[in-house]
Amino acid sequence: MAFQATILSGKLNTMNEQQINDIRKDFPILSEKIYKKDLIYFDNGATTQKPRAVVEKIEQGYYHTNANIHRGVHYLSQKATEAHEEAREVVAGFLGADNKKEIIFTRGTTEAINLIAFSYGEAFCSEGDEIIVSVMEHHSNIVPWQMLCERKKMTLRVIPANEAGELDMKVYKSLLNERTKLVSVTHVSNVLGTINPVKEIITLAHANNTPVLIDGAQAVPHIAVNVKELDADFYVFSGHKIYAPTGIGALYGKEKWLNAIPPYQGGGEMIATVSFEKTTYNELPFKFEAGTPDYIGSTALAAALKYVSNIGIDSIADYEHELLLYATEKLNEIQGMRIIGQAQNKSSVISFLVNDIHPYDIGMLLDKLGIAVRTGHHCAQPLIDSLGIPGTVRASFAFYNTKEEIDIFVAALKKVVAMLR
Ligand SMILES: Cc1ncc(COP(=O)(O)O)c(C=O)c1O
Repeated sequence: MAFQATILSGKLNTMNEQQINDIRKDFPILSEKIYKKDLIYFDNGATTQKPRAVVEKIEQGYYHTNANIHRGVHYLSQKATEAHEEAREVVAGFLGADNKKEIIFTRGTTEAINLIAFSYGEAFCSEGDEIIVSVMEHHSNIVPWQMLCERKKMTLRVIPANEAGELDMKVYKSLLNERTKLVSVTHVSNVLGTINPVKEIITLAHANNTPVLIDGAQAVPHIAVNVKELDADFYVFSGHKIYAPTGIGALYGKEKWLNAIPPYQGGGEMIATVSFEKTTYNELPFKFEAGTPDYIGSTALAAALKYVSNIGIDSIADYEHELLLYATEKLNEIQGMRIIGQAQNKSSVISFLVNDIHPYDIGMLLDKLGIAVRTGHHCAQPLIDSLGIPGTVRASFAFYNTKEEIDIFVAALKKVVAMLR
């Protein structure tokens, strides 16, 4: 029987082989053959596979309760509206927010960061101001700020990292000043796996009266996040990296900030009244959700978050950490192995190079053996350039991966390396 049906009796403290096998049955794609080989999917940092609970939720929505939400008086519209608003509550609960008005549905992390870069930028930034990001940001947490800086004649400041891939907190402190209007950093690096000390980053910024946005794209699927405990001003993530569909994600924002900044896009839903003379805006959270929202995606996202919660995020974190340690040890057996990112506090992402073999060649050959890894700059070109490397091969694990898969991967990698040497 599939895991989703059996787990409801209580959370797991640890995950054993039987439980992982049961979990894997919830993800039909994991049984696919690739070039007649069993698929080994180690590209979870890019996107995760979807459990039946999520796909069935989408099917159920379209087959049984599909209607446009919020404005309809009829039964289906009310059902769909209820489901969408319940999903908002699930997201709020998952992030530890206590007010569902503080949850804005977006297309994902990228859209959420663009929203804040535009709306916060309009309200609070002007010429000469500064924004702080870190060297290990994904392009989606760099480019929107560069666009803002260009628009408003501002400066982007960058926190560097040490050799292990940990942020230089001394430099960070020295960058904070009266011109700093926002700090925007990633919780977990998609290349290095570093789990950044975001609580400390936020505390230091607040002492400087500066709000902080945390990019949680690589964090929420793997570690417990509580926006209240962190005291984050904004926290963003993408559904597709946490077992939900593409095209849906969320922005958490403190109510005081969301009330203080203008809407991002105009259209239906985000208005209170419209006339040619004057338009007034809707209350939170609708003020930031112009147009028909992805009400099927939101309910599928809620299904994914429930699925993860049923397993238990702490059990997931423990198990994935075990995979990280196991894979690191096995990979280090390979001569010429260079693991990029050796932070003390690390999530289940391993970037590496072997001698001077190009990452792309390794990725191509692993693919022929049924193993999906990512190669290249991982949308973090400034980081890769700062390391003076052409890119990396990245294996990123999820709770449905196994040590057995890691053994097959390492054996395959040894063969590939021998061929390419
Ligand atoms: C740390 C980080 N931030 C942002 C993003 C962008 O996410 P999306 O493309 O889902 O908007 C990613 C995607 O890989 C990421 O890893």
